[in-house]
Amino acid sequence: MIDLKKIQNVDIDYLTHIISTDRYDEEIFKTADEIRRKYVGEEVHLRGIIEFSNYCTQHCLYCGLRAENKNLARYRMSPEEIIERAKLIAQLGIKTIVLQSGEDPYYTTEMMCEIIQQIKKLDVAITLSLGERTFEEYRIWKELGADRYLMRHETASPQLYAKLHPGDSLENRKAHLYELKRLGYETGAGFMVGLPGQTPYDLALDLVFLKELDADMIGIGPFIPNPDTPLKDATGGDLQTTLRMIALARIVVPTANIPATTALGSINPLGRQYGLKYGANVIMPNLTPNPYRPNYSLYPGKICLFERDTACVECTKHMIKSVGLIVGEGYGYRKKTESLAEPVKK
Ligand code: SAM
Ligand code: SF4
Ligand code: FES
Repeated sequence: MIDLKKIQNVDIDYLTHIISTDRYDEEIFKTADEIRRKYVGEEVHLRGIIEFSNYCTQHCLYCGLRAENKNLARYRMSPEEIIERAKLIAQLGIKTIVLQSGEDPYYTTEMMCEIIQQIKKLDVAITLSLGERTFEEYRIWKELGADRYLMRHETASPQLYAKLHPGDSLENRKAHLYELKRLGYETGAGFMVGLPGQTPYDLALDLVFLKELDADMIGIGPFIPNPDTPLKDATGGDLQTTLRMIALARIVVPTANIPATTALGSINPLGRQYGLKYGANVIMPNLTPNPYRPNYSLYPGKICLFERDTACVECTKHMIKSVGLIVGEGYGYRKKTESLAEPVKK
């Protein structure tokens, strides 16, 4: 039997132990599903994502958008194109629009202000995922109505973080996340599973950090080696370990919004369905317009690149129903209530 208290109290030795084996998976998965139903219900929230620029000034060793990658056709959507796309998403009834890009200073503070103000008129929640920007920009955009900010911590091991992000530190990344929290954003952290050199202890540290931050959103996906990056020969993350980490994240932060990520669906055709069964309660249909979509190429085998424009919306709705869950119709903010029913007894 797993010791639920030790998991919820993020006992580092215990977490390291249960992460290092598949022996407890059945129980972990079952518990995560129970906790998800009790704390966030059966609704799965849709977030329409627009990947509006694949330019990036950063050098993350794992990512296809890194500045050094010359094998990538770069694109930028104009503010008008972004706003038009947002209107279409709102018309489809999706209540959250995620604006994601590489770290691209082309989009100035003022340009983002204009985009946020126009999109807020559509009666939707806005999630920003632009990488690290200045604290002043975070403040201004929040005041204009941006609701959430996604910025994975990527790994909570300071050594591994430093190796993967030349010239940057985990401490700095954490400072940004705490500032976003302080400003009142619903703040999303998260990490990759299967990074080169990552140990079960490192993954346990990820859970400790999610709890410490009280992450409102938690993105967990397998690392998928990209042939155009320095990590091309690495092994990458596997389905089982990634699902284990999603389930444990649900147990550690019961009310968080947790997506069944695109990367999970890219390593296994049913990856996202499993994610939804084992704790995830969000899905992010790709609504990046063509011809841009295939060029937001973080890793090989990314799903949804060649689907008909808005096909992913229908596909994800169908997927939610196929696993016996309900398509959420609201904005899908983090539930403030501690629990929808009695806590799980173990
Ligand atoms: N530039 C922003 C940032 O870094 O926060 C947002 C876009 S970035 C492409 C979104 C996420 O993609 C990263 O947080 C990272 O975890 C993930 N990612 C990048 N390369 C990946 C890879 N090779 N395999 C799996 N996930 C990857
Ligand atoms: Fe740029 Fe984000 Fe990719 Fe890093 S993960 S290279 S910041 S797009
Ligand atoms: Fe994109 Fe299924 S979600 S095709």
